Amino acid sequence: MVNASLLAHPLADELTSVRHTRPCALVIFGATGDLTKRKLVPALMGLAKDGLLPTGFAVVGFARRPWSDGSFRTELGDGVRQFGRSDTLAAFEQLQEAFTFHQGDFADPAAYHSLRLELDRLDQKRGTAGNRLFYLATPPSSYSSILQQLAASGLSREADGSFARVIVEKPFGRDRSTAQALNDQVREGFRERQVFRIDHYLGKETVQNILALRFANGIFEPLWNEKFVDHVQITVAESIGVGSRGGYFEESGIVRDMIQNHLMQVLSLVAMEPPVALSAEAVRDEKVKVLKAIRSFRPEQVAAATVRAQYTRGSFGGEDVPGYTEEAGVAPDSTTETYAAVRLQIDNWRWSGTPFYLRAGKRLARRATEVAIQFKQPPHLLFEGGKQPQPNVLLLRIQPDEGVALRFGAKVPGPDLRIRDVRMDFRYGTAFGGETADAYERLLLDAMLGDGTLFARGDEVDEAWRIVDSIVEGWQRSGQRPLGYAAGTWGPDAAARLLEAGRSWRKP
Ligand code: BG6
Repeated sequence: MVNASLLAHPLADELTSVRHTRPCALVIFGATGDLTKRKLVPALMGLAKDGLLPTGFAVVGFARRPWSDGSFRTELGDGVRQFGRSDTLAAFEQLQEAFTFHQGDFADPAAYHSLRLELDRLDQKRGTAGNRLFYLATPPSSYSSILQQLAASGLSREADGSFARVIVEKPFGRDRSTAQALNDQVREGFRERQVFRIDHYLGKETVQNILALRFANGIFEPLWNEKFVDHVQITVAESIGVGSRGGYFEESGIVRDMIQNHLMQVLSLVAMEPPVALSAEAVRDEKVKVLKAIRSFRPEQVAAATVRAQYTRGSFGGEDVPGYTEEAGVAPDSTTETYAAVRLQIDNWRWSGTPFYLRAGKRLARRATEVAIQFKQPPHLLFEGGKQPQPNVLLLRIQPDEGVALRFGAKVPGPDLRIRDVRMDFRYGTAFGGETADAYERLLLDAMLGDGTLFARGDEVDEAWRIVDSIVEGWQRSGQRPLGYAAGTWGPDAAARLLEAGRSWRKP
């Protein structure tokens, strides 16, 4: 039974969370690429399996290669088999007809004219009702042509109550000025509410759980500030190297590839003020305020507040692995960083004086993404003798082994009053069981629903680049080479110097 007082609440829609997708056609630019096969179509089939796709639905793959509908479908079927959740292949087999291929050059107006005719035809044939979702899954060098053509052809226009939306993959620019140029270009055809900038970390259940943990519970928020929190560590450690992406990584480095987007997004969810509602604007207004409260570094401050490093040859799981400069597509004298650690200060009432330490790296000892909130010690330690209790840590394990743990001191049984650290541990797998949906499922669904909460707004991207640009500029001016760390370790020892006052990096 529905609670009547709930329905009267102005936020009833959000609280009851019943959401319906409208029919639509999804046009994927760059549909012959890896992302479509590995992520997008398997995610769509996950939605299909759970009955979350609209009834009127079609996918048009737009790319330069001369593929047919048949070869497109074969390739996608392969992708679903390899990368889809269990039982999604059956969904794909049932929905095959919904996938068509449109060959064209991204800069050719004629290709957009024929795309429009194709979409009109699908409105009739598959009931897509004039609603269009454009997904830019190409290399960023093609974004500009596509956006220009979408605006010029009128495909970005919303007519007669129908919607036109654009999803932009990362990387969104390679610095603040290219991101601003891209934002300007996006806005030539689309309004902000039509734009969905992907950061797949926001699609992860455990990242969304940061909001749930903070704002669905009464016990954490009173402690969530500089009075009680000693510092926060945000770690995204990967065990993989750059693999076949050496060419791309050379142009980006870990600070652009991971910190500007994923770590900054996680940081803003951890540090933001409570939003007035769970609406896209209210949540993103608070996130951007946190980013604005982080001061840019002056070039001469960067050396003391950051550490950058590059992996050298080492071993992983008993096997020798190459150093970064030995990877394909990487210059032998490359100075690109594969590890970065940064100490950030948030200049607002909540966090003044509480450092946030961020680190991300490739080829580290293990894969682990986590947020550790370390609390201050009690004002007076009563327990003498033996080991002093360690500070309390609230650990949000984003992946793998998703969950939340609280470390606290407990009495060791026996006649003496001795304290030992123990953990209260919540594990997603144990509590909820089942297979969790991939981040792209949630993000594609939300874009179809027109809900931008889990997407980066233009101003958030801009602020994150402002901070990252100031770091990169400091590194460039210093002209110093990155430090080295052996593959399979926790990064350079020098990273310890960022943490003052007896603090140390966690080893997840
Ligand atoms: C991507 C980066 O955005 O995120 C990759 O470009 C990185 O370099 C990946 O490996 C990590 O994502 P996840 O979901 O595996 O943590």
